[in-house]
Amino acid sequence: MNVTFRQLKIFESVARHLSFTRASEELHLTQPAVSMQIKQLELSVGLPLFEQLGKKIFLTDAGREFDRYASAITAQLHELDQVVDEMKGLKRGRLTIAVASTANYFVPRLLATFCKRHGGAVSVSLDVTNRKQLLKGLMENRNDLVIMGQPPEGMDLVAEHFLENPLVVIAPPDHPLATEKRIPPERLREETFLVREQGSGTRSAMERYFAANDLQLVTPMEMSSNEAIKQGVEAGLGLGLVSLHTLAMELALAKLVVLDVIKFPIMRYWYIVYRGGKRLSLVAQGFREFVLQEAAQLLQTPSL
Ligand code: PGA
Repeated sequence: MNVTFRQLKIFESVARHLSFTRASEELHLTQPAVSMQIKQLELSVGLPLFEQLGKKIFLTDAGREFDRYASAITAQLHELDQVVDEMKGLKRGRLTIAVASTANYFVPRLLATFCKRHGGAVSVSLDVTNRKQLLKGLMENRNDLVIMGQPPEGMDLVAEHFLENPLVVIAPPDHPLATEKRIPPERLREETFLVREQGSGTRSAMERYFAANDLQLVTPMEMSSNEAIKQGVEAGLGLGLVSLHTLAMELALAKLVVLDVIKFPIMRYWYIVYRGGKRLSLVAQGFREFVLQEAAQLLQTPSL
């Protein structure tokens, strides 16, 4: 197969956007130039990599396989770039980081402090996504560092915890349970819950808690973001279970209350994670150390 790095880069961009137009904008090329490179690539591979259905393009099976390898090669090249820069003694750096959606309530504050300290020499790419995508990204070496809840066993990962992540039950202030103390978990049986989507760390922790306490979720309403859950609870749709990190504003404005349920909060932890054997760039090493040493002091989790 006679594939060039240039073709790989173009392929990677088209596959990410699933659009020739957006890839050509990103790469500062004309659209015909992008189409031509993809055509040549398909000729050397000997299989179509994209198919067009209506106005949309999709990856073929061969395209998906190609994408897996192209992403891994691109990530390795990016790593090589950084290593060479560091050998040349260059100070500039790019930090590619992916975080769980709940972590996005505090990670921007950490990035802001870190970037300020480095006087604008660090550029950042931040991807906010769900746990499934975070694990895929780790497998494919897409990011320098990932911030997530409990990482899975059995993958070759380095995971260090740096901050508590208390999960609490929330209600609107006029809810009958809002003023009760030491609510037994069984009382939750009668309540409707607004729950996060399957695949989120919050959802799996909630399911483990309910199973351990012999509780069943009665007709839960599933919502794919913390914001949607908070809005729904505020509007009186039911109770919610979210991380305390998401509640700073609502608690300060008394729009929501945290219920005093026995065995709560469910205590989870935030981890900074990277692949075992990964060669971290200087800037990624710096950010990792900064998070481990300073995040807990810089971030004040709202108190209960
Ligand atoms: P999430 O948060 O619920 O947004 O996935 C991560 C976690 O708690 O594991």
